Amino acid sequence: MKHVETIKEQHAQLCQQLHHHAHLYHGLDAPEISDAEYDQKLKLLLNIEEEYPELLTQNSPSQRIGGRPLAGFRQIEHNQPMLSLENAFNAEDLRNFDNRLKRFLGSEAPLEYLCEMKLDGVAIELVYHNQQLQHASTRGDGRIGEDVSANARTIGAIPLQLPPDAPKRLEVRGEVYMELVPFQRLNQLRREEGEKTFANPRNATAGSLRQLDPRITASRPLTISCYGLGEIEMEQPPTGQLEMLQKLRAWGLRVNLESVFLANDIEAVIKRYQQLQTERNELPFEIDGMVVKVNSFALQQELGTKSRTPRWAIACKFPPRQEQTILESVRFQVGRTGAITPVANLRPVAVGGVTVSSASLHNWDEIARLDVRIGDTLVVERAGDVIPDIVKVIKEKRNGQEQKIPAPKTCPACGAAVLRGEGEVVPRCQGLSCPAKLKEALKHFAARGAMDIEGLGDRLIDQLLQLQLVTSVADLFCLSKEDFFRMERMGEVLAEKLLAAIDASRKRPLERLLFGLGIRHVGAHLAKVLSQRFGNLDKLRTATREQLLETHEIGPQVAESLLSFFADAHNLQILQQLKDSGVHPENRVAKRGERFAGQVFVFTGKLERFSRNKGEDLVEQQGGRASGSVSKKTDYLVAGPGAGSKLTKAQQLGVKVLDEEKFLALLNDETEGD
Ligand code: IVH
Repeated sequence: MKHVETIKEQHAQLCQQLHHHAHLYHGLDAPEISDAEYDQKLKLLLNIEEEYPELLTQNSPSQRIGGRPLAGFRQIEHNQPMLSLENAFNAEDLRNFDNRLKRFLGSEAPLEYLCEMKLDGVAIELVYHNQQLQHASTRGDGRIGEDVSANARTIGAIPLQLPPDAPKRLEVRGEVYMELVPFQRLNQLRREEGEKTFANPRNATAGSLRQLDPRITASRPLTISCYGLGEIEMEQPPTGQLEMLQKLRAWGLRVNLESVFLANDIEAVIKRYQQLQTERNELPFEIDGMVVKVNSFALQQELGTKSRTPRWAIACKFPPRQEQTILESVRFQVGRTGAITPVANLRPVAVGGVTVSSASLHNWDEIARLDVRIGDTLVVERAGDVIPDIVKVIKEKRNGQEQKIPAPKTCPACGAAVLRGEGEVVPRCQGLSCPAKLKEALKHFAARGAMDIEGLGDRLIDQLLQLQLVTSVADLFCLSKEDFFRMERMGEVLAEKLLAAIDASRKRPLERLLFGLGIRHVGAHLAKVLSQRFGNLDKLRTATREQLLETHEIGPQVAESLLSFFADAHNLQILQQLKDSGVHPENRVAKRGERFAGQVFVFTGKLERFSRNKGEDLVEQQGGRASGSVSKKTDYLVAGPGAGSKLTKAQQLGVKVLDEEKFLALLNDETEGD
């Protein structure tokens, strides 16, 4: 028994440490341990919970990874409505707002305002009870929102538990958003995987938060900034907006305190508004205005709210960063998958402090939608990206000389034929040895998340191609020092470094190689899933469609893509060559027990000690099968409180029924001595 107690203690300690370090990292931007150390601790925790699922709680740091997919979102009624804000657009609107409030209060005395940035993301409410995150919900219609708790738990900057001095009950509101650099990286990845990119960080945030699969949310770079309260239960609640924000930060919630400004009167607010409009261009995230709030809670109370907006606050919006310019010409870019993307060459124009001279036209559907032609005057907007978007064409400015944008008939890089497949929005180069495709493939293969070949960047890859030293990723492993010497500015030291970096990449785990190969629809995450399931390339190569589809998270599109990749003779030749060059990584396939071999389990009702996902994983690890419905073939029904029709059916069919405890006992008894 002592042993279990020790494990329990170790588990609690790890949870505490992980909560603490997550807070230092996300809440305070002041990490004390490296990411690797954090991951190591998390892994330890996962191992313990794997073996002792009874220790797993909803707010365990392990839930950051994302639990089982949901069938839909539950609705949650906010205790206090989540209001929205009235808009102002200039100094005059702000002065009118100030006068309105003074009239309402019947006082000429200057009002003290807190100025905050208006983040452009998605509003969320977090409810903490006894310092534990109970649930998180979106704003919805202001009264009823959607339960996005499982997704919120994956956001590192949202604390799963608060320190003991935090209120007994705390409802806190904030904005979930994505910073610009991570947003661009996410889009880049999606582009590489042939997926649709997000138009701006706000769309990316909304899409990520409303995922039914929390594991997808977990992979998205979301963060939060808190700005308000719902209900609060404590002895001495804060008396004003600034004090409240300071308290929130002290309780571990993320608050943009550095950027708030306490103004003595409306003129100071106006100055801050103008200042923020310049600062806006330097921020690492998008803001679309400034929120002005009466600082005193007593005055807020007195001013009260109208039906959907409070009287005591206003959003002062910024003008959109739009300009007009001319589309001078269009060039075509060839990507790794051969996709040919049209890019607009624009007459250079300054938009919000940045000169822009090109913009993606994305695809031919987009060109048709905008009805854009060469010579047209366009409205371009910089929203969340340094690369601007083309908003619309000003057709009134046409003079009849404008020319339609032709779709390329041949590849601009290699001259091979192009083909636009059914349902595809871009044509693809069909050339087997297209240098543009090869260049992108090499860049992807050598990149950080893939084989991570240090030093092998754009310039070197260009030269390798020019000198015809490589015709595929496999050729990288046949390069000699002499080959490198043929390149410009190449010395002994650099050549040796590169050879060592290439050599080191031979030892990368399977998932990295798999990702690096650039198989369509197989991104970093699915590469990991596949490598865990199949263990080595040969097993994956020979996997049948059924075996692929049996793998959790692998759908028909990915399965087809894998099958066609491994059916291609050229690809097989490259794989053989990689293997011959000493690149054949193996992965340990998760250990499987045999205790539940051939047995079918069904889980139902509310499970409290482990998630249903976890239970099903445990069954599968012991060679059993988890099913969604009870039938004659079911061996065990594991039923928690609130079990309904499945329990009745199991009883009718004489299926053995276990509660969570009994299931765990069965698992532990039988796994003992494993
Ligand atoms: S206060 C009653 N403060 O803007 C208070 N909102 O139209 C209502 N927002 O739904 C919100 N930054 O999503 C507030 N510092 C901030 C904000 C902020 C962004 C968003 C929020 C809200 C919308 C208001």
